[in-house]
Amino acid sequence: MYKMDLRSRKLKRTNDSASGSSPDKKRPVTSAQGEPPRPRRDLVVLDAGAQWWRSAVVYQVYPRSFKDTTANGIGDINVSSHSSVDRSISKAAEMASDDENEPLLPLHKQAHPLQSLSLDEVLQTENDPDWVRLRIIVMSGAVLSWLAMFCGAMAIVAASPGCFIEGPDDALFPKVVFCKIDLLQQPVSQPGIRSQLQYISKLGVNAIWLSPVFKSPMKDFGYDISDYRDIDPIFGNLKDMKALIDEMHFLGLRLILDLVPNHTSNMHEWFKMSVKKEEPFTDFYVWAKPKNVSEAGKEGYVPQPPNNWISVFGGSAWEYSSERGEFYLHQFAKDQPDLNFRNPRVVSAMKQVLKFWLNMGVDGFRIDAVPHLFEDLQLRDEPHSHKEDSKAGQYDFLDHIYTHGLPEVFDIMKEFRNTLDSYSEKTDKIPRLLIAEVYDTVENTVKYYGEGDQPIADFPFNFLLVSEMERNPRADHLKELIDRWMDAIPTGGCPNWVLGNHDKGRVASRIGLNYIDSMNMVVMLLPGVAFTYYGEEIGMEDVNLSWDQTVDPAGINAGQENYMKVSRDPARSPMQWSINKNAGFSESSSTWLPVNQNYLNGINVEDQEHRFSHLQIYRSLIKLRKTDAFLKGGLHTEVFNDGKTFVMSRVFGDSGILAVINMSNERASVDLSSLSDVPDELTVYLSNRQEFIGKSLNKSSIGQSPYQADVLLFKVDVE
Ligand code: GLC
Repeated sequence: MYKMDLRSRKLKRTNDSASGSSPDKKRPVTSAQGEPPRPRRDLVVLDAGAQWWRSAVVYQVYPRSFKDTTANGIGDINVSSHSSVDRSISKAAEMASDDENEPLLPLHKQAHPLQSLSLDEVLQTENDPDWVRLRIIVMSGAVLSWLAMFCGAMAIVAASPGCFIEGPDDALFPKVVFCKIDLLQQPVSQPGIRSQLQYISKLGVNAIWLSPVFKSPMKDFGYDISDYRDIDPIFGNLKDMKALIDEMHFLGLRLILDLVPNHTSNMHEWFKMSVKKEEPFTDFYVWAKPKNVSEAGKEGYVPQPPNNWISVFGGSAWEYSSERGEFYLHQFAKDQPDLNFRNPRVVSAMKQVLKFWLNMGVDGFRIDAVPHLFEDLQLRDEPHSHKEDSKAGQYDFLDHIYTHGLPEVFDIMKEFRNTLDSYSEKTDKIPRLLIAEVYDTVENTVKYYGEGDQPIADFPFNFLLVSEMERNPRADHLKELIDRWMDAIPTGGCPNWVLGNHDKGRVASRIGLNYIDSMNMVVMLLPGVAFTYYGEEIGMEDVNLSWDQTVDPAGINAGQENYMKVSRDPARSPMQWSINKNAGFSESSSTWLPVNQNYLNGINVEDQEHRFSHLQIYRSLIKLRKTDAFLKGGLHTEVFNDGKTFVMSRVFGDSGILAVINMSNERASVDLSSLSDVPDELTVYLSNRQEFIGKSLNKSSIGQSPYQADVLLFKVDVE
């Protein structure tokens, strides 16, 4: 049983079962496999309150591939600007710097027109007859126009049956008057991502995680930032971004920004000044002298990297700057120099960046490459990993004990946590979400939750389903992965489930075409946060790319022979909207990555809107997340049919949801009589076999075709 602890803002495990879930004694004594039963996990999300993310679906938009409206083959967020947006941007810049001693980021403040007048001068003009006359005219005009507008608005509201007052059920957004206008019926005037917000909102998701849109030379497609406080012109500008945030909030969607603190682009002003040793930027990055510096000046001298560290994208993690006569560290591409987080000014600068975007209205951050933030001060060589198949020069060749997950990383994350919390405290009291991107063992990853009353991230990503799920997986493996995460997270920690992202292959290609719907069922019905990478809702597949089409630095570094093993390009192909040119993604003659031609065979949004499809199943699944069984029900997972059928139940009181998934290529019939808190008669709410939907089944005999995935309900009302 879990209950909310208001102080630590976390769910705490307790022993009572007063939530209404069925008591433990109802559980079978052994599972169908004869093993002792696993502990019940009754997750009661009581009073999660402002922590909206605890039951959220977060939709990841990779902006380059989402919607191109400038016809250059690259996605964008372009919109026309508004003066109110201008004002809030300069406010964001001012507020970001207000309590920092180090104004490291140029702010371009404009003088206020009245700034040159003293108070006395202002008071003197007050009784000037010309000013008095002007005041009367302006005031009367304002009152009359206000009255006219008010009466007009009232008349329109009265005449429109479609108008109503509504707002999301939490304090984040004020209640507003909405008029039911189907924006999809209107000519779409907002291009780029904004034009697709209606689609995202209609999916039923709660938030968008936007991969980086900051100014960038795009060597790592936005993860190489040259200005943290500006938008790359490819995507639009700051006004577009502000308009996007505002519109998302209006639609009840939150925005999670992707922040990359570990490194900048080598085109960032900080780096350019650091190369020149201009203060205070000299130590902004991790610089080191060549190992053989004592031989400098001798004939044939070639500077040697300070140690054997390898970059994640392959090859030495050091690049020589002849201008500075030193090497700089880059744990990713050589165009991505690592910032030096041992320098307090770097920490302060990054906190200013967080504040800038908080002031712009973002609801949280996904912090990129967290374990890479610190490296060994003594720059010691890393030992060989002795991993099978790893070759010299590849990242896996070494055991990263000096460059990954150092204890100092946690301190910086705590500082970021504090920045977010004190911002919330000073403003609207609504917590902002902090997610850590961590690829590590489960044991190390869950440390980023923090402990007790010292939370760090709200959660680190759970990558088990992307990193360890094999092709054509078995049900018992799926169960093991789910249990491993649930057992590892700290008491009260918010679970989360990532099925795909811009760094990993798509579900259809990585796990198999037969698992698209079933995997969506699993992540949507597990307790906690579910992540969806754009296009997974329609079952997009990886695209095939030739070596010439490869643009991902990881793929390029691997060379022509091996690029397909590591390239992340295949999962980043453009979103497939329709059967129009380039799948409706772009009017351009070519796109930055090729469009997967399967858009012509039903893998596109427009087509799937109108038939039984992955998209329809996805939307129906999200509806279940509003039920008590999902929000408050316990979690029980079990395998049947010799480890080939996966069963998951979410039961609250006498109502519940049951997922039954035959993960094998054979027909199967399972007897679920051992599930004692599930009644005999069940109704099929959803199935990847349309003909089963609506059928009544008896739990003692559930027959399924190969790969059939069913969601069965009892006493659950779905809106
Ligand atoms: C993260 C991002 C990845 C990027 C890397 C370097 O792992 O997800 O796309 O290349 O960090 O920023």
